[in-house]
Amino acid sequence: MKVAIASDHGGINIREELKSLLEELGIEYKDFGCDCSTSVDYPDYALPVAKKVADGEFDRGILICGTGIGMSIAANKVKGIRCALVHDVYSARLTRQHNDTNMIAMGERVIGAGLAREIAQTWLTTEFEAGRHANRIGKITEYEKSEQ
Ligand code: RB5
Repeated sequence: MKVAIASDHGGINIREELKSLLEELGIEYKDFGCDCSTSVDYPDYALPVAKKVADGEFDRGILICGTGIGMSIAANKVKGIRCALVHDVYSARLTRQHNDTNMIAMGERVIGAGLAREIAQTWLTTEFEAGRHANRIGKITEYEKSEQ
């Protein structure tokens, strides 16, 4: 599995924590920034990472900002992306089992690094259940295809 990770200025600490986790798990990753101490715009990070995941260059993407909301909104604009805003371990598990999410967003002003690590580990190691859930995701994919 290859993972792309990025944050804005509001998510740098969790991004660093999750890079340590990825190293511990032996998962290949690339850090797409930000290299910032000043304020940046989260779409400048969410959109390129989402595009790389949608294009298959990376299998999964992890985004962190202050709330995770802006990152998740931006990522979900890219066709083929299913990005979940997750701040608890239960949702992290279910969004893999039921939604087959290929991206996750978290907010550093909402949760601490310890919980973010557990969420990411759960999300990275949980399989999609397919079955009836694949049918539901198929309906989203069909809708995307029907859009201009
Ligand atoms: C930046 O101040 C903040 O708006 C951003 O990190 C994020 O929370 C947006 O959704």
